[in-house]
Amino acid sequence: MLGEAYTNNKSTTDSIYRDTLAVSQRVNWRIEDIIGGDKTLDFTKPFMPESLARLSKLDFLSADERLVLNQIKGHTYLQVFGLVEEFILPFVLDHVRPSLDKDDYRVRAFLQFAGEEAKHIQLFKTFTAEFHKTFPVKCETIGPPSAVATAILIHQPLAVALAILLIEWMSQIHYTDSIKDNQNLDAQFKSLLKNHWLEEAQHAKLDALMVEALAEGMTEAEIERAVDEFLEIGGFLDDGMRQQTLLDLESFERATGRTLSEGERESFKSVQHQANRYTYIGSGLTHPRFLETVGKLSPAQRARIEEVAPIFC
Ligand SMILES: [Fe+2]
Ligand SMILES: [Fe+2]
Repeated sequence: MLGEAYTNNKSTTDSIYRDTLAVSQRVNWRIEDIIGGDKTLDFTKPFMPESLARLSKLDFLSADERLVLNQIKGHTYLQVFGLVEEFILPFVLDHVRPSLDKDDYRVRAFLQFAGEEAKHIQLFKTFTAEFHKTFPVKCETIGPPSAVATAILIHQPLAVALAILLIEWMSQIHYTDSIKDNQNLDAQFKSLLKNHWLEEAQHAKLDALMVEALAEGMTEAEIERAVDEFLEIGGFLDDGMRQQTLLDLESFERATGRTLSEGERESFKSVQHQANRYTYIGSGLTHPRFLETVGKLSPAQRARIEEVAPIFC
């Protein structure tokens, strides 16, 4: 019986690798088709959807000031995704490296995944360079990426794989729920998020297999420990979001020449920290497909994550 279950499981997994690779090859786009040349950012338009940026609550800002802050948050999005992809890339390569001689479709699917993340890193950098051609001041962001990668990769592989799964589902829900039908956003920024979504859809499926493979044979206590470490990564990212909120505030004051009052600063910090928490943590933590994968490992750990998720929403 067990043998039969294994064979069925293996053939399902094999077909996911084969199908994912086929879709990736079909979707594959080039950076130069998305940005550069006559494809420039339109600074009369917002870059981020309101459901992620949460600027309407800052009623002490004028419409023009909100637009500037929205674009700063667009820049932050480029930087944060660029940053996390820099730890995803080596992790995926390390995951596949010991078994390069085994399953051809699996190896090719993961190498395609890694190649796409390298392309995404370059895509986010290209958009950032495009942003700075027009935006009047420099916008600081947390980092450097190598330090963030080091801090995250010290955790056990299952914890890191869960964090990666969280990020991939995040990119999916950002596009489908907030961007796809939004007609107000800058066309190039919207195209960036659409194209990222297209390739990340395959990554999410591969990540789920990576999580399942890493958890195979683990006891309940070992899975609990991995979720402890996953939550530590979440805490580390949240701390980064708090710092990023202050950096966005400084960029805003530099770009607009306005100095916020003490009360306005406090309101900015609390609303924007929560907005960043939702964008970069909560939107993934509450994603049904993310929770489904965690629930397969352990219903108790799924319940634990569901209990902390509201803090990040
Ligand atoms: Fe990516
Ligand atoms: Fe990805």
